[in-house]
This record gives sequence, C-alpha cells and structure tokens, in this order.
Amino acid sequence: MSKREDVIIKSEEIENQKRIMLLVNNINSDGEKYAFVETYGCAQNVNDSEHLLGMLEKMGYKKTDDKKRADVIIYNTCAVRENAELKVFGNIGALKALKRDKPNLIIGVCGCMMQQEHIVEQIKKRYKHVDIVFGTHSLYRFPEILYNAITKNERVIVFKNEDGKIAEDLPIHRDGAVSEGVSVMYGCNNFCTYCIVPYVRGRERSRKKEDIIKEAKDLAKRGVKEIMLLGQNVNSYGKDIDAYIDFPDLLNEVSKVEGIERIRFMTSHPKDLSDKLIDTIAQNKKVCKQLHLPIQCGSNKILKIMNRKYTKEEYLEKIRKVKEKIPNITLTTDIIVGFPGEDNADFEQTMEVLKTVRYDSVFSFIYSKRRGTPAEKMEDVITAEEKKANFDRMIELQNIISAEKNAEYYGKNYEILVEGVSKTNPDFLTGRTDGGKIVNFAGEKDLIGKFAEVKITKSHTWSLTGELV
Ligand code: SAH
Ligand code: SF4
Ligand code: F3S
Repeated sequence: MSKREDVIIKSEEIENQKRIMLLVNNINSDGEKYAFVETYGCAQNVNDSEHLLGMLEKMGYKKTDDKKRADVIIYNTCAVRENAELKVFGNIGALKALKRDKPNLIIGVCGCMMQQEHIVEQIKKRYKHVDIVFGTHSLYRFPEILYNAITKNERVIVFKNEDGKIAEDLPIHRDGAVSEGVSVMYGCNNFCTYCIVPYVRGRERSRKKEDIIKEAKDLAKRGVKEIMLLGQNVNSYGKDIDAYIDFPDLLNEVSKVEGIERIRFMTSHPKDLSDKLIDTIAQNKKVCKQLHLPIQCGSNKILKIMNRKYTKEEYLEKIRKVKEKIPNITLTTDIIVGFPGEDNADFEQTMEVLKTVRYDSVFSFIYSKRRGTPAEKMEDVITAEEKKANFDRMIELQNIISAEKNAEYYGKNYEILVEGVSKTNPDFLTGRTDGGKIVNFAGEKDLIGKFAEVKITKSHTWSLTGELV
C-alpha cells in the first residue's frame, strides 16, 4: 500500500499553479481570448478535459467550438487503438495553415498518447507547429506549461516517465449537463496484454471518499441528478488507501447525497466483481440497474493470453448471479476481435457468449497492436480479412439481439431522466431509463433535468421512442 502523501500532489504545488493561472489571466486582460479543446477516448479523458477547461477559464479563456477563433487549441488524446492516434496526427497536421496565419496561436497536445516517448519524439520532429506537449501525469501543471509557452515564446515539451498522482482541487468547467462524471480512481494495475492504459495512466490510486462526496454534493447543488463514477476498474476502489472502504460501500455513501437520484459506474473488471457489489446494485434504489462487464473474448485460451484472470465459465457464472438478483438489468460488454492467436474456433466461442448472455449492446473493436505491450510480439493465426469478416458477423448478430431486447420495452412505462433536446430531431427530448436505455419523445424543454414518465411506442436497434404519459 502506498502512503497517501506520496500519491497526492502537494497542496502547495496546486496553489503554485493557481498563482500562475492569475498571471496568465493578467496577460489576457487586454481582450477576449478563446480556447478550443477536443477530447478523444474514454470518460476519464472527458473528465480531464473539464479540468483543462476549468484552468483555461481561470486563465481568462472562454470556451469556443470554432478553431479559427481560438487563441489556444488543445487536443486531449487517447492511445488505446491506432485509429484514435491517427486521427490526432491528422488533426494536428491540418492546423499548420492556421498557425501560419495566426503565429500567436498556441497549439497543445496532451493526454494518453503523450505518455509515450516515441509519440512525443514524433511530435517534436515532425509537427514543429505544436507548441506544448504534456502527458496525463502532468495535467495539473498545464498553467505553468502554458505560461512558459506564452512568455518565453518557445516550445514546452514535458515528458515524464513516472507514475501519476492525484491532483485534488483543480478548477473544473462543466457544461451543465444533467448527468456528470466523477472520477473515483485513476490508473490500472491489471496489465491485460493488449492494453496500453496501465502504461499511460500509471498504477491504481483511489481518491479519498471525502473528496468524492464533496464533488457529488457540489454537483447536486447545481442541479445534477445523475452521476457516473469513473475508473478503469472501479471494483479495486479503496484497495490502495489506508482507510479501507470498498466500492459497494462507496456507492452506498454516494447514494446518501441529497439530490443525486441516479448513480452509474464504469468500468468493472469481471475478476473483481463481488457478490457484495451485485447485492448493492440490487438493493440500493439509487444505483442504476445497469452493468458494463467487459468479457473481451469467449475463448479460455485467448482470455489466458490476454491475462484477463477469469475463464468464460467464471464470467458466465457471475452473469447468472447478476441476472438472478437483478432480473431487469441492462448488460453491456466490450469485445476485442482478432487478438493474436485467436482462430475462427475461438471467435465462435465469443459468438456463443453473445447468444447466451444476450447483452443489450456490445462495444466491439478489432485488435490494434500497441507498442510496448506484451501482445505486440504475438503473432496472428488468421488474416486481417478473416478478422474483419468475423467482426462484421458479430455486429450483425448483436444488432439482432439489441433490437430484440429493445422490443421487450414496447408498450411499457418508464421513468426517464430527461437530458436534453434530441440531436436528430429538435422537436424531441432525449433521456434515459434507469437501465441507461436512450428514449426520445415529444415534450417541452422545461422537462430537461427532470424525471418524466414515458410510454414506449416504438423500439429500434439503438434507442426507443415514446410518448409522455
Ligand atoms: N478498463 C476498462 C476499459 C479500458 S479500454 C476495462 O478493463 O474494461 C476500453 C476497451 O478498449 C477495452 O475494454 C477493450 O475492449 C478495448 N481495447 C483496449 N486495448 C485494445 C487494443 N489494443 N485493441 C483493441 N481494443 C482494445
Ligand atoms: Fe486495460 Fe485491462 Fe486495465 Fe482495462 S483492466 S484498462 S483493459 S489493462
Ligand atoms: Fe484512451 Fe487513455 Fe482512456 S488511452 S481509453 S483516453 S485512459
């Protein structure tokens, strides 16, 4: 167990960054300044970007969605698959012309990609118009990094190959959504052999219960009704801190916060999913009846090489328990198709799992080789075309299952937390059931942020349509 003081960034250091924010704010007091932040990857990154925007706000920048208007452009990157990285390179490449026309523009890249030395080297050499580079572990130092870039008029590239810490009390900018994310822990200790996350996010470290509750209370005060507790493996919450409290206990504590009506969480590792957690979801009214439990693959041979530490049978037994105790639970999973060594017979076992569990939806990915992970050196036994054919076949199967599961909602009434106006139809509102199903229906905007009872009149593969009762 690590000592708290070694894991938390000292408050003097955060105070120092706050002083620098004021300095930048002074520099910017000569006119309107704008910042554009684009986020890739998971909810953890979205949460980090909210902190970036919070710091930018304190430094005198207004948020903009227009790159041309921006004085600072930041890409908060994800390294989990190659296509996410390629998109970032494409996007920063395209900023060259903008920088030429507006030399004072500050272009920054941060996040998980920037915790990898070879990527930082590539940016240094090939993207000379990028002014600042910093990884996830240096996020709290953003004010200092930006200040140096502005005042010294030079590139600031921070690459630190050390474990991350926890920065409490950083400013945060939220868009005022009905549902907000709250990080409960950072990092991952699992080292699944395909995954880059433990390398770019460091070891598991849990926030103190008090800090989490305080954040939840602040959100409730601002009218937030639902929170999503975030961590790469929330089931390990608390194992690294002295005052031991486990994740189910944390859920119960958070549920005492007045005003917070719904609590979701992501992600649970199947190996650590305890009976206590299942019971807590079943018994605590505020904990949503929804579970995202990534299986990755249905073949024991592959699960072993992936270092997932459970068998298909153990996984299915947990699912059986979950369904028994929480009959109407919404179940989702992640699947990787084409992991090295996976043959067509292994893949068929994944298909069998989908048929057995009947998930509400599945997030599926074709395996992407990540530099520095153990799987990087492992070899394929089937071709890329075969992988793609398997992937397509899996999506076809899952789409049918998802549509069938949604059809079960037809004609029934559900309590919907209204999140906003539908993106596809401005006359419709959109919200979610307790289980997390998206429901669109006609209604007045003053329902946003409130609960509404809606009868389902139509079901689709990805969503439901209904009418107010
Ligand atoms: N901590 C979470 C998920 C982290 S990444 C968990 O353990 O479930 C989200 C998903 O991306 C993973 O569940 C996995 O399905 C996928 N993923 C991770 N690394 C990948 C890789 N190298 N190639 C393809 N998909 C990957
Ligand atoms: Fe990656 Fe595995 Fe950790 Fe999830 S549990 S972040 S898949 S190493
Ligand atoms: Fe991507 Fe980093 Fe999240 S690699 S998935 S943004 S932790």
